[in-house]
Amino acid sequence: MFLAHLLNQAGIEAVVVERKDREYVEGRVRAGVLEQVTVDLMRRLSISGRLDEIGLVHTGTNLSLDGRMIHIDMASLTGGSTVTVYGQQEVMKDLFDAAEKRDVRVVWNASDVTIQDADSARPNLAWHGENGAERLECDFIVGCDGFHGVSRSAIPPRVQKTFERVYPFGWLGILADVPPVDHELIYANHERGFALASMRSPTRSRYYLQCGLDEELADWSDERFWDELAIRLGPDVAARLTRGPSFEKSIAPLRSFVSEPMRWGRLFLAGDAAHIVPPTGAKGMNLAVSDVTMLGEAFEEFYRSGSTSGIDGYSSRALARVWKAERFSWWFTSLTHRFPNMDGFDRRIQMAEIDYISGSAAAQRALAENYVGLPL
Ligand code: DHB
Repeated sequence: MFLAHLLNQAGIEAVVVERKDREYVEGRVRAGVLEQVTVDLMRRLSISGRLDEIGLVHTGTNLSLDGRMIHIDMASLTGGSTVTVYGQQEVMKDLFDAAEKRDVRVVWNASDVTIQDADSARPNLAWHGENGAERLECDFIVGCDGFHGVSRSAIPPRVQKTFERVYPFGWLGILADVPPVDHELIYANHERGFALASMRSPTRSRYYLQCGLDEELADWSDERFWDELAIRLGPDVAARLTRGPSFEKSIAPLRSFVSEPMRWGRLFLAGDAAHIVPPTGAKGMNLAVSDVTMLGEAFEEFYRSGSTSGIDGYSSRALARVWKAERFSWWFTSLTHRFPNMDGFDRRIQMAEIDYISGSAAAQRALAENYVGLPL
């Protein structure tokens, strides 16, 4: 949707083909931390009205080790960069509302999507829609269809390399209409496992607990969730914790994944279609936004001047940033989670690294500049 708006703004015709309907996409709970590149793009597209009004600008974040809080003053460590808490669902709503007003065409409920002749001069897209079988001849196709989408598999295995880490735990997340425990986020490393205190608004909290991959939602009553969260955040923070009924509860697995290259012929991959990060650090949507920002520039250059240099450089340019975010998300996950095969040595190395971060401006700066988002 970001790319469709970018192209629309540049006078380049684009059609978005979506498997689900608008309600489904807007209803899916995703992460909620926007890097500056994402905020900047929303402003550039003039879709930042609600973001500017209700987005929560965070100048700092917190690490916690067995209840001991370590504040990271991101803004002063990075020369003024911040992140903005604003749910991905809200971003989608803004994109869809603006699409309706600006004639950005979205085809909903498209099933059996296939990509043909991606390496020819006229790639085409076929699908089954509300009007039966449809087909679109294109100059270019961009696969923004997520990890389970069809685009990546349209690239022949002989030209594709994939890299993967699967983590031996998941995240159990809840949403509840209670005030957040802190005005900033808390990434907590506890002997019993990771916890994250996040939020969507001053009256809506989002909390996560590291859990086993074999655990069942039915075994996690709200009471059990709040009790475990209180333990992992530690007594000082728990004393400020407001409990309440959850209205969303789900378990998500964690994965790192990259598929190279991000282009084959006239097919380009962007976002989760090409790469997955574990959620620690909230890089998923931000990375998709940086991919399509680069693609938008490349297509604009192509249609303006005929130059293919941006298009030809896209994959390596995008992957350079993707791998840095992969590295950071992997590192932040490794630093804060309890691994099943961890022994006393591993645990003390983790504790020593967090203690080192707490006393080193250099280490804090390395965390902060990655957290707020590396430059495009
Ligand atoms: C949220 C998710 C994350 O993965 C993260 O690092 C921070 C916040 C969230 O859903 O609020």
